[in-house]
Amino acid sequence: MSFAETMKKKAKSLGKTIVLPEGWEERTVQAAVKLKQEKIARDVILLGEKTKIEAVAASKGVSLGGITIINPAASEWLPEFAAEYYELRKTKGITLEQAAADITHFLRFGAMMVRTGKADSMVSGALSATADVLRAGLTIIGTAPGMTTASSCFVMDTHDPQWGAGGLMIFSDCAVIPDPTAAQLADIAVSAGLSCRRMIGAEPVVAMLSYSTKGSGGKNEDVLKVQEAVKLAHEKAPDLLLDGEFQADAALIPGVTEKKAPGSPITGKVNTLVFPNLGAGNIGYKLVQRLAHADAYGPFLQGFAKPLSDLSRGCSVDDIVATACVTLVQSV
Ligand code: ACO
Repeated sequence: MSFAETMKKKAKSLGKTIVLPEGWEERTVQAAVKLKQEKIARDVILLGEKTKIEAVAASKGVSLGGITIINPAASEWLPEFAAEYYELRKTKGITLEQAAADITHFLRFGAMMVRTGKADSMVSGALSATADVLRAGLTIIGTAPGMTTASSCFVMDTHDPQWGAGGLMIFSDCAVIPDPTAAQLADIAVSAGLSCRRMIGAEPVVAMLSYSTKGSGGKNEDVLKVQEAVKLAHEKAPDLLLDGEFQADAALIPGVTEKKAPGSPITGKVNTLVFPNLGAGNIGYKLVQRLAHADAYGPFLQGFAKPLSDLSRGCSVDDIVATACVTLVQSV
């Protein structure tokens, strides 16, 4: 069974709810219908004006049966949401009046539904920029307890059982933090470990990547940063099997690990790669995708208190459904 099929099956078994804030967007409407008809989510909520959404559904020849439509501007939850948003942002100088106006924005309203438990998860981004989806998540849903950094991961299906868990690996962070500090890198590693457990169902074995293995690259600040991140990640998650810093081959090939980092507890077992910065992560996943013909699923957001996902603006209906499945699976 492919990763996508596994996620769909798992999402169905959980019976969770999802809000799609770009409710009038054509692909989103069609994805909502699939999510509902295939019983992937218990409740599917589209935000927007009912007449507009119904017109889109009619033009696409799909039925909105069983789908909930909420117009943020007319919602009975507005006073509650405005008060909550004001509390969250008052130290930033927002007024109650401004909070009431701002929370009607579809991304903020959707994020507030997730924060307040009115939906279990949220998927958006077919229309909105990544930064806008992230900011709604960061300012309203916030980061998970003990976590100060939101980041992302890809699930890479290498189709080769010698790698990771039956060919599946987690690559992180490839989409959010351009140049993480050591503390942020440690958070990314801990979140990536959790993503490994949730998404590919394997106990995480994490390698912190660098151009240096155990000091071979000297005392350049990039190397020291990864070494510090390894230390901080151990303090933060003592039970997480993690080691570094490693060059990619030293992380993946047991013979090289034995030569460069003899006795490393992660030898031959790595299923989660943490890159030192966004440049390395983004280039790394695309090289593996193109040169090794791996399937790259993501980016999926991690480190948030509750699950949300961003979409590429070029996404297809099936991409939205697949992203929704992974997001629903994180609602545990
Ligand atoms: N984790 C936790 N909190 C964060 C993070 C983070 N990663 N980033 C920002 N914050 C906080 C800020 O401190 C701020 O808090 P405050 O308002 O309570 O003080 C709040 O979130 C809002 O942040 P902003 O200052 O508005 O946003 P910022 O300018 O820091 O940008 C953002 C953050 C939007 C996540 C930015 O880093 C970004 O756009 N990243 C995405 C990069 C990108 O474009 N990726 C896509 C290309 S790669 C691909 O698609 C595969």
